[in-house]
Amino acid sequence: MTEMAKGTGDFGPIYMGIDLGTYRASITASNGLRKTILNVVGWPKDDVSRKLFGREVVFGYEALRHRLALNIVRPFEKGVIKYSDGSSLANPEHISKHREAAKELVKYIVSLAAPEKGRPVYGVIGAPAQASVINKQALVEAASETLESVIVVSEPFSVAYGLDMLEDALIIDIGAGTVDLCRMHGALPEENDQITLTTAGDYVDELLLKLVKENHPEVQLTINMAREIKERYGFVSDTNDRVVVKVPVDGKPRVIDITEECRQACKAIVPPILEAAGNLIATYDPEFQESILKNVILAGGMSQLKGLDKLIEEGLEEFGGGKVCRVEEPIYAGANGSLKLAYDMPESFWRQIT
Ligand SMILES: Nc1ncnc2c1ncn2[C@@H]1O[C@H](COP(=O)(O)OP(=O)(O)OP(=O)(O)O)[C@@H](O)[C@H]1O
Ligand SMILES: [Mg+2]
Repeated sequence: MTEMAKGTGDFGPIYMGIDLGTYRASITASNGLRKTILNVVGWPKDDVSRKLFGREVVFGYEALRHRLALNIVRPFEKGVIKYSDGSSLANPEHISKHREAAKELVKYIVSLAAPEKGRPVYGVIGAPAQASVINKQALVEAASETLESVIVVSEPFSVAYGLDMLEDALIIDIGAGTVDLCRMHGALPEENDQITLTTAGDYVDELLLKLVKENHPEVQLTINMAREIKERYGFVSDTNDRVVVKVPVDGKPRVIDITEECRQACKAIVPPILEAAGNLIATYDPEFQESILKNVILAGGMSQLKGLDKLIEEGLEEFGGGKVCRVEEPIYAGANGSLKLAYDMPESFWRQIT
């Protein structure tokens, strides 16, 4: 008799791998479902908008699209629940709204993976490599209403685990809020194996907005438009392709060429990445530095910037040269690894922490 794969039968727990990012949440589950949504939560502003949506809470693209009719909250910043570090500047109403939004979001994304009623759900959540203990606790709290049992692991470690690259590899996960670098040496990464930078996608969007406004003060560009331009045209290579976009000026469309602004904003993430990668390589066991250089993996939404792998590879030449690859599934690589980890944890472990 063949043994049924863990988490796929009619009974017993469902396992989930969850990547709770600043920008999007992605989930893969042992029942085969996979979903990804934008991390935006919206509450209708009044009775009219409540009627329009027919619901009390709206999520993802739908919330973003109808943002004028909703009170919008993006619960995560730099990969963790905003204000969860106990920031004394935050007002208590803001803090509780962000926590509530995080809980609603976890509940919603888990419901999308459709676990049957009554079956326990065991989840592994990926968080930024250097998220503080308080931040991690806040994530566990947000998830514990929905999940029977949950553990939080470092996001780049999840990516490495999913790719079976547990030894001599450097994972660089470039998201919206953070770039997480983690070197793998065959054991659980420790604090000095990981570096978190905040020069990631959001930083590029803000820089692009600033550069375009400086050079074209008359155009009406928003941060959402800047992000869309980056996602569509973002590049870091020397190419002859032009980035030509149509943007409003006094309500009328105007065509502008923002090739240089786009290149400069996107390239801004590279020097901090090279510096951090250099640090992790230089402090690695010298006998294995060459092997780790041959295994540099780019993950996360921003790894899709055209030419990024090649530019980082060029930057690694000063260390004797390296090989940089992108993961096949930038959106699901973290969630896949977390799911694999959830499977591989013994059942007794899950029961123990329930
Ligand atoms: N095709 C693309 N080209 C360039 N950038 C992209 C592309 N698609 C998405 N992005 C950018 O990738 C970032 C989101 O990546 P990802 O989904 O990995 O982030 P996240 O996990 O939510 O964030 P974090 O890990 O920092 O918490 C955003 O800045 C987004 O604009
Ligand atoms: Mg991420």
